[in-house]
Amino acid sequence: MGALAHKPKLYEQVAEKLEDAINAGTLRAGDRLPSVRQLSLREQVSISTVLQAYLHLESVGLIETRPQSGHYVRRRERPRLAEPQVSRPATSATPVTVSALVSRVYQSMRDPNLVQMGGAWPSTELLPTRRLYRELNALTREMGDAGMLYDVPPGCPELRRQLARRSLDWGAALSPEDFIITVGAAEAIHLCLLAVARPGDTIAIESPAYYGTLQAIESLGLRALEIPCSPRHGMELDALQAALERRRVAAVLVVPSYSNPVGSCMPTANRQRLVAMLEERGVPLIEDDLYGDLHFDERRPRTCKSFDKTGNVMLCGSFSKTLAPGFRVGYVAPGRLRERVELLKFSHTVASPTLLPLAIARFLEEGGYDRHLRTLRRRLTEQVARMAEGVAEHFPEGTRVARPAGGSLLWVELPATVDSLVLHGRALEAGVSIAPGPIFSPRPDSYRNFIRLSCGQPWTPRIEGAMATVGRLVRTLM
Ligand SMILES: Cc1ncc(COP(=O)(O)O)c(C=O)c1O
Repeated sequence: MGALAHKPKLYEQVAEKLEDAINAGTLRAGDRLPSVRQLSLREQVSISTVLQAYLHLESVGLIETRPQSGHYVRRRERPRLAEPQVSRPATSATPVTVSALVSRVYQSMRDPNLVQMGGAWPSTELLPTRRLYRELNALTREMGDAGMLYDVPPGCPELRRQLARRSLDWGAALSPEDFIITVGAAEAIHLCLLAVARPGDTIAIESPAYYGTLQAIESLGLRALEIPCSPRHGMELDALQAALERRRVAAVLVVPSYSNPVGSCMPTANRQRLVAMLEERGVPLIEDDLYGDLHFDERRPRTCKSFDKTGNVMLCGSFSKTLAPGFRVGYVAPGRLRERVELLKFSHTVASPTLLPLAIARFLEEGGYDRHLRTLRRRLTEQVARMAEGVAEHFPEGTRVARPAGGSLLWVELPATVDSLVLHGRALEAGVSIAPGPIFSPRPDSYRNFIRLSCGQPWTPRIEGAMATVGRLVRTLM
């Protein structure tokens, strides 16, 4: 530690040991340092000496403190890749024909023999599976035959109570009566689209957009109007406003927090403006808040729903990205169209499963969710940062990558001549699954040189090897 005086003080000696461990790579970026108490015992120094050492390391930028979590080795800043630019989709609405391509690509996202950077779900290692199974076991004993009965809409009162409590975090203060339990966010979105649009109507969406939403639009015979998006701030509201002035749209559908595939996060002021703009025109806003709990910094973004005074915002969400994708537990707070959505839910699926939403309600009630989220967010923050570093290290010059502030996805723009559908095929042959850009647009020729990488798997040498493989394949396709 060159900057230290010749006779280092006690705290400087402690700091120096840690600095040596960091420089030698024994402690790596993202690693957690021992707790203050542990280090004070280990080094036989006082708590205040350890605190001083940590303060010093923080002041020189080697470590960071995360509230309620501890001290961590900081990532060394490398020169970062540029971000993709604001998207420029066609300005006309179009029917959607993406389902066949999605279905083909999706097969590979589920193949356990491939290194998975394709599917947008967290690795099971990151999920509280055992606790959820315990809740489920207890419920089967407690409920007996009642667990076999239909739980008709709006569904699971216990979960709706928990959602109402959590809605305070979203800035929205909803009541249990505002919610309907659904089979994943997918069903919530589907029901909202059914409630607001008829075949041939147009839905304004982000460009690029989540392929599941595109499939829903396709299956309902709707048209998609792609709106330009900034990789950082999401839907461009001036462009949306201009589009709304040009043509009638039945609804606008956005993922304001950590969109899929881009990871953009709409600033609060834009959310407020969006809600007001659509309210004024009587155009419903379908808000897909699937990733809202996965923020990397301290604060959860407010939902658009929190600015809704007239019931024009239909809020959709689920626990697929935070607790249990396979439970298929989601919800919708449809605002003024609540009755219509409830009827649709009944006529489409009769009811959601009875026990699974209840198991999640119990998990939330017992208070483990926030602790679990803190760990999950920390892990995803690290994994996304490592994947971004992997792209910088292994991909050729000219590659751009988005810088999400939450979620688990990385949107990567490859040099213009690279065809991501060809890359997808070659990567599969090499044992790696990625998501090619064209599945994120209703127009199959869009985003040809883009891929989405999922960072849901813990960073391992196997993942790093797969990144190197994909980087090498990209070069061969240039
Ligand atoms: C933006 C977005 N919305 C909705 C869904 C569907 O969520 P669920 O699995 O809860 O149906 C996904 C799944 O990846 C998604 O990324």
